[in-house]
Amino acid sequence: MHLASKNISPEIVIEPTCGKGNFIIASLCNFNNIKNIFGVEIYKPYVWETKFSIINFFLANPNSNKPEISISHCNVFDFNFKQIAKQYLSKEILVIGNPPWVTNSKLGSLNSDNLPKKTNFKNHSGLDAMTGKGNFDIAEFITLIMIETFQNMNGNLLLLVKNSVIKNLVFDQNKINTKLHQ
Ligand SMILES: C[S@@+](CC[C@H](N)C(=O)[O-])C[C@H]1O[C@@H](n2cnc3c(N)ncnc32)[C@H](O)[C@@H]1O
Repeated sequence: MHLASKNISPEIVIEPTCGKGNFIIASLCNFNNIKNIFGVEIYKPYVWETKFSIINFFLANPNSNKPEISISHCNVFDFNFKQIAKQYLSKEILVIGNPPWVTNSKLGSLNSDNLPKKTNFKNHSGLDAMTGKGNFDIAEFITLIMIETFQNMNGNLLLLVKNSVIKNLVFDQNKINTKLHQ
């Protein structure tokens, strides 16, 4: 994995929307200093698939490092990441994954409840929010939650997101005022 070749060796791995667990398995394959892994996934069959993949991995690799692993069936917007940041503040962290790419207005039109609780996280004016300037990709919101929650820890964030999400994050750097180094 690219990160391992850069001498990145996390102790804590977070996959905020872990799906079938591909990034978790890749982390287990490539990093041998992990102490804890936390995966979160809203779709229950994927939670099970991730758990079975992890068991398969250890059956095939019985001598590999065995971190404590927690895969939670939970909405990423309800999960208590702050507790992890508090508990493991001095550890080296890796946030990794590919959050879902869908906008809140698209979800709204699908009548989905896959939305953060009503929040004006970018401080848009009421008018901007009404005219759609307040529209955002939920991957952007997940990325922001990760940056804000873990900004006081040493480590890395590797999330596959659209270019527009990165542009928005860079554009809003002053406003969100996080300790992010690119
Ligand atoms: C692009 S996939 C991630 C795939 C994953 N990295 C893997 O290895 O399979 C996005 C995942 O986000 C999950 N998801 C969507 N909304 C979510 C939410 N609000 N909370 C947690 N997971 C969510 C989807 O069920 C899907 O599995």
